[in-house]
Amino acid sequence: MTFPLFQTPLDLAHHFWRALLKPGDIVIDATCGNGHDTLILAQAALTADSGRLIGYDIQEEAIALTRERLTASLLPEQLSRVELYCKSHRDLDDNLHDGTVALIVYNLGYLPGSNKQLTTKRETTLQSVRRALSLIKPGGVLSITCYPGHAEGAIEEAELLTLCSQLQANEWSCCHHRWINRRQAPSLLIIQKEKK
Ligand SMILES: C[S@@+](CC[C@H](N)C(=O)[O-])C[C@H]1O[C@@H](n2cnc3c(N)ncnc32)[C@H](O)[C@@H]1O
Repeated sequence: MTFPLFQTPLDLAHHFWRALLKPGDIVIDATCGNGHDTLILAQAALTADSGRLIGYDIQEEAIALTRERLTASLLPEQLSRVELYCKSHRDLDDNLHDGTVALIVYNLGYLPGSNKQLTTKRETTLQSVRRALSLIKPGGVLSITCYPGHAEGAIEEAELLTLCSQLQANEWSCCHHRWINRRQAPSLLIIQKEKK
């Protein structure tokens, strides 16, 4: 028996993503970083002729690393279905229609080993998440990993929890996962839209 079943909120998040995604889905990685999460999304959603993956990061270096990681593991046909943008997720792609995206992933905070000033910020994150809620299709999910161990991350998490607690329970399932015997532990918000 594996102990613990899930070591981190990201382990848990990956478990949910794999259970949810089907080949051909539209997915967004709002914080590509090193591209580890982007690759998991790509492998689950993209085929040679279906699916779409859109990725964002404000750092050129992150976009380059992500592109490199995807290029090493995906078929050229899958790669042609990926769009990576070096820009803020504040304004998620205007070309996407509301109610069409299966999964939108935020792994908040800063890139480990990189400039800590380039962390996600509450104002842009909240604006982006509000737009993300309208993009999600019925049954689709927003997955947000929060890092309350640093000052900006603590406020960001608190404001996200306030936003989620105000969503209608008959339209949204909002669940906050946290290890309660670890101090300032990262946490995972899973927000699912009702399947009509
Ligand atoms: C914790 S890292 C993401 C790790 C990544 N998911 C992975 O698998 O390696 C957070 C990333 O968010 C990026 N970021 C910060 N603010 C952003 C914004 N407004 N829009 C998009 N990306 C942002 C940072 O540059 C950083 O690379």
